[in-house]
Amino acid sequence: MMAPAPGQIAVRHVGELKGSIDVPGAKNAVLKLMVATILADGTYELSNVPQIADVAIMSDLLEAIGITTDVPAPGRLRMTNTGDLVPIAPYEQVERIRASINVLGPLLTRCGHVRLSMPGGDDFGARPIDLHVAGLEAMGAVFKFSHGDVEASADRLHGADVTFSFPSVGATENVLTAAVFADGVTSIDNAAREPEVIDLCEMLVSMGADISGVGSSRLVVRGVPRGSLRAVAHRTVPDRIQAATYRAALGVAGGELTIREARPDHMHNVLARFRDMGMEIEPIPDGVHAVAASRLRSIDVQTLPYPGIATDYKPLMITMLSVAEGVGIVTENLYPGRFRYIEELMRLGADVRTNGHHAVVRGVPRLSGAPVKAHDIRAGAAMVVAGLAAEGETVISGVDHIDRGYDDLVGRLRSVGADITRC
Ligand code: UD1
Repeated sequence: MMAPAPGQIAVRHVGELKGSIDVPGAKNAVLKLMVATILADGTYELSNVPQIADVAIMSDLLEAIGITTDVPAPGRLRMTNTGDLVPIAPYEQVERIRASINVLGPLLTRCGHVRLSMPGGDDFGARPIDLHVAGLEAMGAVFKFSHGDVEASADRLHGADVTFSFPSVGATENVLTAAVFADGVTSIDNAAREPEVIDLCEMLVSMGADISGVGSSRLVVRGVPRGSLRAVAHRTVPDRIQAATYRAALGVAGGELTIREARPDHMHNVLARFRDMGMEIEPIPDGVHAVAASRLRSIDVQTLPYPGIATDYKPLMITMLSVAEGVGIVTENLYPGRFRYIEELMRLGADVRTNGHHAVVRGVPRLSGAPVKAHDIRAGAAMVVAGLAAEGETVISGVDHIDRGYDDLVGRLRSVGADITRC
């Protein structure tokens, strides 16, 4: 086999993992907390910030809007908003990170106007923004689409009853943040209930926003005057997807891990599925203790909005099923195209057939190491997990995708006994 090139990750199967891993803050929370600083002047201190590329990309976008950022210590982010904002999110920034769509609500409600480049699709399919637009239009925003840009304006938004046909995470966050300064009361029905949405609500409430129903599928926001919110310090919620990645690694390699800082109450359903596959998982005061004593058993899984099994867990689940005993059927209900990494898994000897939004996975005793590509963040992490279950060496390219969402995946896995190097 060719030697791994710079920037690639090489993984070898060595057997059991043992030890303790700390899970950092959640990417899908911190990016939205950063955007919330648009709403009020002052200096913010975010802690438990993962050291990932997406945080740096979001910092660049916010700097372009007029918010300064600095890192006083690893895992901390200080951000200052002086009120001198440019409500424009340029293409060069937006195309790098999908979460940039989250500036729409805060800039509109704070500045009365916003222009941003239309976010593009992802490797796993189109990502429309119709729910974001309809929610903000109901609050009085006027939209214009031209030359690849979306522009919205409203001197002051007004409260509205918004009911989503689907509990979109991003649309919930945009309407929620826009409603903070709207005139009157906004209700959001069929709101997303993900722990990261709750984290954003909690930061907004500590800034002075009036939000009730936090954590439920009906959020009610009473608008407060612009200027009445203040900057705060906030700790980012732990990353349930990174926690699942380390459990999946344990599942295929075997052994025993303590995964700290992970919140079992945010992972109820997915922990149940890991137990169904034969892992023992006990909540402990600051995380979970997990044991994988024997080969995993196959199960059927379908992805759903929270509290269902998140689509982000799916590449990990398919990787686990590819070496489990029996046959499992995985159904994707959010992004029908999110199966591309399966071709890579098949290069490692996995037996997977896809039909529409279903994948049928027949477990094999062991995969066989080969060069593979990371196509997106979670698919990339799944390739690393697959490498732990493969004879010989698996070399992963496209590692920049993994860097977007994982804080030292290689170092953390190595610290519990994995044979893994970054070249
Ligand atoms: C967020 C997460 C992503 C996760 C997803 C679903 C971030 C940065 N990303 O993405 O990792 O996979 O939630 O849990 O937090 N949809 C529409 N119209 C819209 C908006 C969404 O049809 O206006 C559809 C999407 O195409 C998709 C589904 O709704 O099929 C879910 O999307 P959404 O919940 O909005 O995901 P994101 O916020 O983009």
